[in-house]
Amino acid sequence: MSKDWSVNQAWLDEAVQVGVKAIILTVDSTLGGYREADIVNNFQFPLPMGNLAKLAEASQGLGISDIYAAAAQKILPEDVKRIADYTHLPVIVKGVQDPDDAEAAIQAGAQGIWVSNHGGRQLNGGPASFDALETIAKRVDKRVPIIFDSGIRRGSHVFKALASGADVVALARPIIYGLALGGAQGVQSVVEHLNKEFRITMQLAGAQTVEEVKKAKLIRH
Ligand SMILES: Cc1cc2nc3c(=O)[nH]c(=O)nc-3n(C[C@H](O)[C@H](O)[C@H](O)COP(=O)(O)O)c2cc1C
Repeated sequence: MSKDWSVNQAWLDEAVQVGVKAIILTVDSTLGGYREADIVNNFQFPLPMGNLAKLAEASQGLGISDIYAAAAQKILPEDVKRIADYTHLPVIVKGVQDPDDAEAAIQAGAQGIWVSNHGGRQLNGGPASFDALETIAKRVDKRVPIIFDSGIRRGSHVFKALASGADVVALARPIIYGLALGGAQGVQSVVEHLNKEFRITMQLAGAQTVEEVKKAKLIRH
């Protein structure tokens, strides 16, 4: 989200125009994490990236720090309502790690909660997203669906996330790794492999349907 509401409006207009079904508002990264590997590797973002072009324009510069400087530094519950009112689309709040924040998002009109720690790429030392999931799911209590990500690498991870209260599980880096190694076919093979592992886990754990997975009891140590 940009500090400049007219930039946000332009993005939202474009999203509505192309027929998106929901807006995901990321609330956990108003600036980039401190990534030493990026410094060592002299990593530069390949700017301008299509999805950030408008923000780059508004920041009148193309460095990633300029782009972050143009990003909203405070994202509030009112923003959820403002986006929903503007687009008439469901708003999903992404980057939730605390039950109180999930509650605030729902009270503000969020129609989905995305439990995520940004793949651990932002706040180094923050809790594992999975450890936050169960208490958030209890608080949400099925009022809205829960999406979960950060660290899903195996079908058994999908199983555990669903059994801990997630309705949907999302992936980022495994998809990017597949893409880098084998293009569309690489992505497809990652998804197929994950599904295969998930089905094996389901059968071995005695769950015949996803609804049964959601009722599975995990033993925690
Ligand atoms: C290269 C890269 C770029 C990302 N960019 C964004 C972003 O612009 N907005 C966002 O909400 N999350 C972003 N994320 C975080 C992912 O959406 C996701 O929450 C996280 O990576 C999930 O963990 P996983 O990679 O372990 O599956 C990015 C992740 C990666 C790896």
